[in-house]
Formats: sequence, structure tokens, C-alpha cells
Amino acid sequence: MVVILYLINTSVRRAWTEEGMIILGKQRIGILGMGTVAKGFCKTYFMNKNEIDNKIDASLDIEKVLVKDIDKKRDVDLPHSVYVDDFNDFNLEELDIIIELIGGVDPAFEYIKKSLESGCHVITANKELMAKRGSELLKIAKNNNVLIRYEASVGGGIPLISTINDALVSNKIVRMMGILNGTTNYILTKMTKERIEFDVALKQAQELGFAEADPTADVDGFDASYKLAILSKDAFGVIPEPEEILKQGIRNISIEDIKYGLELGYKIKLLAIGERNNEHVELSVEPALIPIDHPIASVNNEYNALFIEGNSIGEVMLFGKGAGAMPTGSAVLADVIDVIKKNKDYMGNNNAKNIIVKNIGLSAYYVRMEVLDMPGVLGKIAVAFGDYGISLDSVVQRARGGRFAPLIFITHEIERMKLNDALKTIENKEYVTEIQSIIKVVK
Ligand code: HSE
Repeated sequence: MVVILYLINTSVRRAWTEEGMIILGKQRIGILGMGTVAKGFCKTYFMNKNEIDNKIDASLDIEKVLVKDIDKKRDVDLPHSVYVDDFNDFNLEELDIIIELIGGVDPAFEYIKKSLESGCHVITANKELMAKRGSELLKIAKNNNVLIRYEASVGGGIPLISTINDALVSNKIVRMMGILNGTTNYILTKMTKERIEFDVALKQAQELGFAEADPTADVDGFDASYKLAILSKDAFGVIPEPEEILKQGIRNISIEDIKYGLELGYKIKLLAIGERNNEHVELSVEPALIPIDHPIASVNNEYNALFIEGNSIGEVMLFGKGAGAMPTGSAVLADVIDVIKKNKDYMGNNNAKNIIVKNIGLSAYYVRMEVLDMPGVLGKIAVAFGDYGISLDSVVQRARGGRFAPLIFITHEIERMKLNDALKTIENKEYVTEIQSIIKVVK
């Protein structure tokens, strides 16, 4: 092996080999941010330091931490001297690994770019940045012979990215179905178990610290769509623009839908789905009914999971905590250890050069409507569905003893556009008061 040592200080830290750059001995770490995840990273390292140092034959030396307020009291065992409030105080030539935990696109993108160009490996937990500008950063890393890892950006502590890139690399991944947002899963679980409406469950989740004061990113599906975009890159080799992902949140899910869903044998979950056909992938984040006996239906509270179907391995499900200081910190630390140990680009399941993102929207659907409670209405609506070539899987009718009654239909697979056309016609019938819900049904 040809080895050229190119940085010689008191100890040798970086060396070029035929396989790229490797880093040796004591590893000098710079961290951008000292919030929840950064603290979880430090605590996990200090807790497991001896074992980790033995495994990698190196130790981690946290030399610089970028914060807004240097003097703020922090519950982490680092000397005051490591804190700086200006990124220019990071001497990147003297650092080996930069861990970016400030979130958002700006200024994180610039900080990471400069770090990669200065020869530092970068670890990030930043899903928004990786979804929106990840491909640029991966190219910059490649051009500079360094690595960027982002395990903690999806699924917190669950090893999703590394599993797809390493353990499942021998497979063509044909489908992924994930609960990638803990806040919405917590809210839907509460609604299901306690039979409470969305607003009440959201308020409770906020009071308990499970949901943010501004819950938009979570409840409207942005967070899950960023995570799906990142997974799509690794599983399918397709990097979508975040807006290419069909996206719908959970604000409109009502307790009625949850109850009827259960009666029909389904739970409602916010599902991030990626499905690969030969020349395209379909990506969507939307609430969906999933059969109660499907493994993903049993993922409750703030837990996340990813159900993967590979063309050789079959079905695999990864489950765990998708957020929180220690789980996410442990994923960041795993990435740090990975770049120190392996120092290789992920191969990914990137064998899909000509694949494009396309929304076909072929699915079964649950439709709830309110109709006049009089003879023959159910039959007329079934005929109207039939006129559009929509075949029905099941129907529930509940008499309430008043003028109106709810009708619930589950269709067979149909294009969403076709369903919309049929429902437009049905909605205009004099015996239909309102189409109240349309929810995807996943098998
Ligand atoms: N806000 C995210 C969630 C956690 O609720 O799952 C961080 O990705």
C-alpha cells in the first residue's frame, strides 16, 4: 500500500492511501452546535469511550464547538475553552471531522462546504439540508476525497442509511414504507387509543414536549418528505426535488375516520412510501389506512420504523426511536466511527440511472361521505363508482336515526385522478351532502 503522510503535527492525523484519505490516531473533532443531539453525541461517547477507542484504535478529541453564547451553562463535560461563537475560529486544517448539528440550510451548507474543501470528513443530522442540497455536498465531498455521512438525518437512532447502503446493498429495493415522523405517530396513536380529535391530541403532545410549538414541519408532512428524499437517494439512486414528493399531513384526519378504519380492520398512519417500477419511482407522504396485522401498524407513540422490500431478502423492518438526544447522538457517533474505520463511499443501491420520479397514484382508497338516509342511495352511489370503472372492496353504512347517514367505501386499486373525477360527479348528486374524507389504503 502506498501511503503518503501529508499532515505532520505532534501526531500524524491524515494520510493519503490508494484507497483515499485515512485518518489515524487521535481524531480532532469540531462540532457545529451544542443542542440536544450534540449533547447526546458527547454523552454517548464519554459513556462508551474505552470500548470505542479500543475498537477504532483512536480517541476523539473535541477541540472546537460553535455556539451562539459561549458563556451559557451546558450540561456536558467539555472545557469552556472549546467554545467559539464564530465559524472562522475553526481552523479547519487542524481538524479531522466536523459534526454539523445546527440544522437548516443556511449557514449549514456553507460551513459544510468549507469543511469538505479543507479536507475534513463531515457528519450531519440535517435532513432539510441533505434533502435540498445533499447531492451538491456529496459531489464536493467526492471531489475532495473526503466523506459526508448523514445517518442521524433519518430515523434518529435507527440504522436506516447504513443498512440500505451496506447490509442490503446486494438487493434491488423495490419498496419502502416508513413511519418517519415521531410527532405525527404520537398524535395518531393518541387519537386512536383515546378517541380524541387531532387538535386535542396535538395540544397534549405539545404540553408533553413531543410536538413543537410550531408543529407545521411535522404535522404537514415536510419532515417526513425530507427524510423520504434522503432514503430515495440511497435505496433507488434517485434524488428528488422535495416538491416532487406528493405530500399531505394529518390535520384533516378525524376521529370518525380512525373509528371506521378500525371497524374495517385498519389503522391510520402517516406513511412515507417509495415504490420502484422499472423506469420510475413513486414517492409520497400521506396518511394511509394500513391493515392492523401489518408490522408497521404496531409501531406506536413516538417510534419510527422502515419496512423495506428487497428483491432477494424479501421483507425487513427496522424499528426504534426516531428522535431524542441519546438515540440520535448514538447515530452521529456511529457515523464518526464509520468514517474513521472505513473511509469509503457508500455504494448505495444506485443502479437506477434512468429512473425518474413520477406520481402514478395507483392505490386503493377509503372514502367517507355523508348522504341522505333514504332507500336506494347506496345502490346509486355504487353505480356511479361503477360508471367510472371503480370497483368497490367494502362498504359500511351506519344509520344514525336522523336525516343523514355516513357511508364508507373502500375501493380496489384505482388512479387517484379517476377517483377524483368520480367523486366530483357523486358530490353533485342531490342525495350526497358532503365527501368528508379520502384516504389512501395500503396493503
Ligand atoms: N421532528 C421529528 C419527529 C424528529 O417528530 O420525528 C426529528 O427528525
